[in-house]
Formats: sequence, C-alpha cells, structure tokens
Amino acid sequence: MKTIVTMGRGGTGKSSFVALMAKYLIGKGATPLLLVDADPDQNLAEMVGVDLEAAGKKTIAELLSDTFIARGGTTVGVAPSHRIENRIWEEGLYEGSQFDLFAVGTKWVEGCYCLPDAALKNALLSITKNYEYILIDSPGGLEHLNRKIASNVDIIFDVMGPSAKSFAHVRRAYRVIGEVGISFKQFYVIGGYAFPQDASARVAAETSLLYPGNIANDAEVAAHVLAGRSLLDIPDTSVAFRSVGKIMDQVLALS
Ligand SMILES: Nc1ncnc2c1ncn2[C@@H]1O[C@H](COP(=O)(O)OP(=O)(O)OP(=O)(O)O)[C@@H](O)[C@H]1O
Ligand SMILES: [Mg+2]
Repeated sequence: MKTIVTMGRGGTGKSSFVALMAKYLIGKGATPLLLVDADPDQNLAEMVGVDLEAAGKKTIAELLSDTFIARGGTTVGVAPSHRIENRIWEEGLYEGSQFDLFAVGTKWVEGCYCLPDAALKNALLSITKNYEYILIDSPGGLEHLNRKIASNVDIIFDVMGPSAKSFAHVRRAYRVIGEVGISFKQFYVIGGYAFPQDASARVAAETSLLYPGNIANDAEVAAHVLAGRSLLDIPDTSVAFRSVGKIMDQVLALS
C-alpha cells in the first residue's frame, strides 16, 4: 500500500491531477484505490464521478456534527475522533468497484478543522482493506501540513502554478514538511497545467527537487470539470492524461 499526497497552491490543478492519476492506476490494474478528499471545499468526488450524497454517504465533518451536535453528544471524554471511526468506514466510505472514496467535508459548525482532521487521521491509521494506493488531495496552501493528516507517506507531489510565488511555495512546503515531521520517501515538483513547459532549468536552479514534468493544458479536462463530468471517462488520448501517464511511469519506476 502506497500513499501519495498531492499539494500545491490554490487552483494549480491538484484535484484534476489526482483524478487523472486514479485513471492511470485503474488502467494499470493497480486497484483497489482509496481516494481521500482532504479539501473542505471538496470537488474530488465530482471529478471521479461520485455523488456522495446520492450514494447516501456522509463527509467526516457531517458525521462529526451529526454525532456531536445533532444528537447532542459531547466532545468531552473519549477522543471524539475515535468515537466516530467506525461511522467513517460504515457511513462515510463510498465503495466502488475500482476505488473507494471519502471526504473531510465542510459542515463543521465550529469552524475549526481540528476534529475532522483528527478523525481523518485516525481513519487512515486504521485502514484494514488492502488498497494498492491511497491518493490524498489537499486544499491549496500549506496550512494542511500542520494538521498532519498523514504523517507517513510514500510520494508527495507539489503541483506548481505559473507564478514566481510557486517557487517560494515549494521551498517552504519542503521545509514545513520536515519541520512538522511528515516522513516521505519521494518528493516531486510537478508543473501544473498553466506552468511553462520549458521551466526545468529554473526548477533545478531554484529548488534542487526532482521534476518529472508538466501536466498538459487540456481544454477537454477544463470542459469536463466545468460540466461536472468524471475525468475517469476522458479518452486515453487526452493530452493531460497522457502527460500524467508520463509522469507516473517515471515516478513509479523509481519507487
Ligand atoms: N490539465 C488541465 N488543463 C486545463 N485546465 C485544467 C487542467 N486541470 C485543471 N484545469 C482547470 O483548472 C481549474 C482548477 O483545477 P483543479 O480543481 O484541479 O485545481 P486545484 O489545484 O485542485 O484547485 P483548488 O486549490 O481550488 O483545490 C479547473 O476548474 C479546471 O477547469
Ligand atoms: Mg482541489
């Protein structure tokens, strides 16, 4: 079981990258997969054609508010994140034929994500099913690193946007990951769909991190996302999908 975390600044194409990575792994028969949407402003489910609500599944935040607010439970005593662990697997996990998925969600009235994050972390630590890969999609920015949803990961992808700030971001991200004690085996910088194609020299000069390539800018991907259609259904000829395949071929050969 390998855990892959995707992060980066807002809007760089992280979620679509995770969806295309899922398509790639499904195509390679590297299943079952677990997809985790750790972004409160979730959209990974939609990008892989899952409607959690229609499937009768709840987000972790919904389960928490349901358990501790609607049902008048208290958050004092037993660690609440432990108390809802079973509910996450029973009521939160969407189970498909090739991948399962759950989402941290937004409906947490107190505004702090500490509790949903702690619940997510415990759930990830108590996985019993043998997934080939766990793909975690993060919210934009670095704040989620402090929450340490996963502290032991195999691969981290930082998807870079087309601004100078992306270079500072990736250096800071690398440093913060070390500071908060997240351990990883490989760290890669990926050029997002809007990143310049010929930036490898600059990435090398400014970050000294491994850079297996760019995600291609693909109108088909943008159209799918806009229409709320699953990126798993995009044709194999999609330039973005092919570029993600090239990245994954390299990275998985090294891992
Ligand atoms: N490969 C691509 N080619 C063209 N457009 C893309 C591509 N990937 C994503 N987009 C467009 O960029 C937008 C943002 O993509 P996405 O949601 O994947 O980014 P994100 O980094 O996850 O954003 P956020 O930080 O808000 O979570 C999408 O609405 C989509 O239209
Ligand atoms: Mg996203």
